Formats: sequence, structure tokens, C-alpha cells
Amino acid sequence: MNAVLDPAGPQAAHIAELWWVTLAVCAFVFVAVLAVLAWGLWRAPRGDPHTPPGARPTPTPGAEKHLIRWVTAATVVSTILLSGLLVASVATDRELARLSLTDALNVRVRAHQWWWEITYDDPQPERMFATANELRIPVGRPVLVTLDSDDVIHSFWVPRLHGKKDLIPGRTATIQFRADKAGEYHGPCAEYCGLQHAFMAFEVVALPPEQFETWAEAQRKPAAEPEDAAARRGRELFLSGSCMLCHAIHGTTANARTAPDLTHIASRARLGAGRLANTPQDLAAWIADPQKFKPGVNMPAHLLPDDDLKALVAYLGMLK
Ligand code: CUA
Repeated sequence: MNAVLDPAGPQAAHIAELWWVTLAVCAFVFVAVLAVLAWGLWRAPRGDPHTPPGARPTPTPGAEKHLIRWVTAATVVSTILLSGLLVASVATDRELARLSLTDALNVRVRAHQWWWEITYDDPQPERMFATANELRIPVGRPVLVTLDSDDVIHSFWVPRLHGKKDLIPGRTATIQFRADKAGEYHGPCAEYCGLQHAFMAFEVVALPPEQFETWAEAQRKPAAEPEDAAARRGRELFLSGSCMLCHAIHGTTANARTAPDLTHIASRARLGAGRLANTPQDLAAWIADPQKFKPGVNMPAHLLPDDDLKALVAYLGMLK
């Protein structure tokens, strides 16, 4: 896991630079202290076996002056090095704040037990859309993420793009970054948040701009219409059962926002904040017993007859 030292954007690069400077200074101090210690041990007066116990050795003339000189030199060097680190740290902070936000993509990330809600803002409300656990961004364009939380403290941390920022209920924070390389960047939750801390994975997928626009345009559309009998039955089950009490599927009567928006669930790579792959088998297993994979999750188990479960999976599987 050396993701921190493999930056994919300017913000993470500033942090990596500071890391290397700190490492160099600390390594220098460590080696210098050990060298002085070794030298001191080497030069220390050897005990005389004839000296009675408790007797003090005769001081060497000028030793005290010598000692004061050394202590002063060490203090001055320490002060210079520590001030240097302070300056480097402040300079990094300023660099981080300097990222240009012209034409920034505005996204809101909200923390939940146990998922990440992602809303893409747009000046035209009908162009806004929501997804979960997977943040897609265009390469080369700055992203301004507004962070807040519903009922838990998570920490947003995508090491290859930026440092950490907590999501705290009742508070709003922002973080800005830019990805300069296309790729998938993993984010582990970086703040102990309870039962699901180890499984709060967050993915940032940086796409070439045209690819991002195509994806965003598809996300803005309402859910696809079921094409076969199984999917139709699945939708009926979704809308008549308990699913719609928590989830939204645009273009249907399901509009709840307590749980992830499922309008385009089939376009996501994973389920349950990175816990499972988004395959029909895993999706069926998840619906049948989410607690098995994500203890503490709010979604209840669904004891559906096999055919109903298959129909539900068929419907959700076509919501690209
Ligand atoms: Cu969320 Cu740890």
C-alpha cells in the first residue's frame, strides 16, 4: 500500500513532496543522533577498577565549555530543522488551497451507516443525479466535493488524490482535487466509525472527459423500462414490497432517500460499499441477507420465494 507515494493529481503530489522532505529531515536527525551517541560512548572515560565506588572522576579541564558549545550547536540545528519543517508544512497547505476551481465539477458526498451518498450538482436541478459508493470524475477537471453526514463520522480519503477530510453530522466541509491520470482510485474510510469501518470502501473512477459526459448523461435519464416478463415482475415486486420505502428508482413511484438510489444500479461495479461484486449471484445473496455481508447495515433480510428473488435481480440487473 504505497498509494500515498504514487500521486495521480496535484494535491496528492504536494502531500507526497512534504512526506519526502519530512522523511529526509527525520532520517538525517536519526542518523546524526545515533552517530553522536556512538561517538560519545567511544570517547567516554573508562572506569578505573581502583577508584572507590561513588568517587567522581577528575573533570577534564575545559570540559564544561566544550559541553555548552555542543548543546548550543545542537539546539540551533534542531530549531533550524523544525522551523524548516514548519515552513514546508505551511507552504504545502497554501499550495493545496491554491488549486484552481475554474469550471469545477460540484459533487456532494454524504456519509451514512453504511454507505456513501453521492449527488452531482447542476445549476439546472433537473440535470442533478445521485449515485452511491462510486464517484466518477473527469480527468483534468477540478472537483469540488462538499462533505456532510447523516448519522456517522466517516473520513473521506482517496490517498492518490488528496489527504483526509472527516464527514461530521451537522457540519459541512469541502475538499478539492483533480485527477490527472485516468484510473480507479481506492478510498478506505480513514476514521473509526463502528461496525462497518473496515468495509466502507469508496471508489473514485477518473474517466476521460468525453467518457465522463456520456456516463453522466446516462445517469440523468430515468430508469430503463423492463424488457421481459421476469423484469416486469421484478419491478412490480420492488414497487409493492418494502424496497421502495428506502430506495429511489427515478421514473417509478419509488422516491425514498434513506438508502442508495438504484436508478442505475447496474452501472456500478460493486454492492454494499465495496463489499460484493455487482453480479446477479451476489445481488441475490445481498437482498436475501445483507446482514451476513455487512453486519449493522439498516437493510433487513428479505425472505422471498426463489422466483421472486430472481425476478427482482433480473429487474435491478437491467437498470444500467
Ligand atoms: Cu467510516 Cu470508518
